[in-house]
Amino acid sequence: MAKDPKTDSTRAGGSTKLWGGRFSGATDPTVERFSASVHFDKALARYDIRGSIAHAQMLGKTELIPGDDVEALVSGLKAIEADIEAGTFPFDPALEDIHMNIESRLREQIGPVAGRLHTGRSRNDQVATDTALYLRETCWAAQMSLLSFRQTLVARASEHIDTILPGYTHLQRAQPVRLAHHWLAYAEMLERDSERFADLGRRIRRCPLGAGAIAGSTLPLDRHHTAKALGFEEPTRNSMDTVASRDLTLEFLSATAICMVNLSRIAEELVIWSSTEFNFVTLADAYSTGSSLMPQKKNPDVPELVRGKSGRAIGNLVSLLTTMKGLPLAYNRDMQEDKEPLFDSALTLRDSIDVLNGSISTLQVCEAAMAAAAQDPMLLATDLAEILVVENVPFREAHEVVGKMVGQCARDGVTLDSFSLDEMQAFHPAFSAPASELLNLERSFERRNLVGGTSREQVSRAVEIATQDLHTQAIELEAAGQQVEGTQ
Ligand code: ARG
Repeated sequence: MAKDPKTDSTRAGGSTKLWGGRFSGATDPTVERFSASVHFDKALARYDIRGSIAHAQMLGKTELIPGDDVEALVSGLKAIEADIEAGTFPFDPALEDIHMNIESRLREQIGPVAGRLHTGRSRNDQVATDTALYLRETCWAAQMSLLSFRQTLVARASEHIDTILPGYTHLQRAQPVRLAHHWLAYAEMLERDSERFADLGRRIRRCPLGAGAIAGSTLPLDRHHTAKALGFEEPTRNSMDTVASRDLTLEFLSATAICMVNLSRIAEELVIWSSTEFNFVTLADAYSTGSSLMPQKKNPDVPELVRGKSGRAIGNLVSLLTTMKGLPLAYNRDMQEDKEPLFDSALTLRDSIDVLNGSISTLQVCEAAMAAAAQDPMLLATDLAEILVVENVPFREAHEVVGKMVGQCARDGVTLDSFSLDEMQAFHPAFSAPASELLNLERSFERRNLVGGTSREQVSRAVEIATQDLHTQAIELEAAGQQVEGTQ
């Protein structure tokens, strides 16, 4: 005869749960499935174990538990970590989450002494600690991935200082630029993205352990000890805020969403540039896919997927913002919903950076197609207006004059560089040479010699500065990584 799941305390879940005496009945199977999180929060296992080891050692140091028990706990936790790494750990959804899974396994392995681990601790401060450790490492990893991508962009820039293409506004040809300048524009965006992760990393400096469920503990815990052992500067300052807040995760999701939007724009440009219409770049076979039907196709699926996945990153941010907006202090179970967006965004970001990095480092630039597109003298119309400005003509008047020249070109089907000196002077007496002499691509670039501009000198200097900056940042990040790892 089938047992009644509501009262049967021997079925999975009821007999193994760790919240003990208060409960006499088993959890409804649907509730069990509905509330379980171990299938995703097992990504926190390493951090959970690290936090537990620090906590156990603090309990020993404060003599809340005997030294022998600390040793048993620590070696049991290390054995569990090895099992998880080897893929042999029996995750059980009936035990809800990663914290309960580890603690229950510890009890199986070392016996009742495992029951001492949760002294002065709640899953609320535990999960906040795990998440802080995860975020700190992931922020660092994001900076490393971005560093590598920026190195690729700067390397490509140094190859393409003299490759000219049209710069676009409104996706209409605007003014000629150097391809190096275009690659460096991406590098600038990604540097700011990297700084956002660095800022967040610095903000993750206080340790949640010891905040308990909401109001700390009556036990004489040493919060400074655990904070230091886990590489934090100090303990958090308010136990309620500690267990109630998810703004650090929101900040990560926000920095990731912004970065993914930047990546999406780079991806979009690769899609456009690799089209037959533009033919500015050819993506390497390793970063393209074919069509199952049309044999001639080579599709830019990789940048398209990056563009597509930026939607998920935005969705993950909006999802957690929405989850959090109505929650009263302090912990609410809604907050368990922070993890899937977090893990998904972290993974999506890492892979998106890596595949775009690979795409750009291996693509072939079609310099001739870029140069041909940049040949149009119309792209230098602004230069003509600025020549008049140098001759003391107010810019608005100069703009009007050149506008008329462009209008005549359109009507007569001629190019802007076809006007003779007489014709030019008929447009404005301040012109002192035929259009063909004034409209010179090389000179046009050289005149754009402002900081941040497109002259050869400025762009070469920008490449040098970026190379130097990346070199310094690589050393700093490496050192920061040792610190992150040193506390693992
Ligand atoms: N799995 C839970 C979470 O991620 C851990 C905290 C559970 N706390 C509780 N009071 N039920 O939020």
